[in-house]
Amino acid sequence: MKKFVILISGRGSNMRSLLDADLPGRCAAVISNRPDAAGLDFAKARGVPVAVVDHKAYPSRTEFDAALATEIDKHAPDLVVLAGFMRVLCDDFVRRFDGRMLNIHPSLLPAFPGLDTHAKAIGLGVRLHGCTVHFVTASLDSGPIVIQAAVPVWPDDTPARLAARVLEQEHVIYPLAVRWFLAGRLRIENGRVLLEGEMPAQASLCVPAAQ
Ligand code: GAR
Repeated sequence: MKKFVILISGRGSNMRSLLDADLPGRCAAVISNRPDAAGLDFAKARGVPVAVVDHKAYPSRTEFDAALATEIDKHAPDLVVLAGFMRVLCDDFVRRFDGRMLNIHPSLLPAFPGLDTHAKAIGLGVRLHGCTVHFVTASLDSGPIVIQAAVPVWPDDTPARLAARVLEQEHVIYPLAVRWFLAGRLRIENGRVLLEGEMPAQASLCVPAAQ
């Protein structure tokens, strides 16, 4: 059975949606860069091994990334899943897990990489916002897109209300994307993700990879 490792930094609601999803693979560990990440308790309660690699304990980004990679490699995962993991990763780290590391970002990439995506979307008056699951490449919040989900932005939205609407979709598309990866259905060709086999039946606003 394939194995995956989930990296978190905080609340861990995406991690929870993955642990609840009955995926065709086993979560070998949840690793946090913050000792106080709330998601760790949920993982422990589920009997998933947890580990903390505290970024504050390392003098440089490179040394933190090396320690994190060592911790991940202990579990020999097929897939590394970034689920609200809020550290920028060095090129070496990204290369090491090339083609086997996914991230979820709360915007319709390439719009709004970085932080405060919901406030930025409201501020610019966009009518559609959403979330993206993508393979991780060296540039921040970029890489071949696996699936996106879009939600409307209403005139009286606040960042918090919009974030909640987007998060609901994150919990739908991330388990789907991880399921496809573990089932060996995702292929990257010329920077685009192709989904092999049958297309899923799902909400029309949820747009998966091309076939
Ligand atoms: C999620 O909205 C996720 O998309 C975002 O952090 C939140 C984590 O929530 N990730 C990023 O912004 C990465 N660039 P969670 O801890 O409840 O899953």
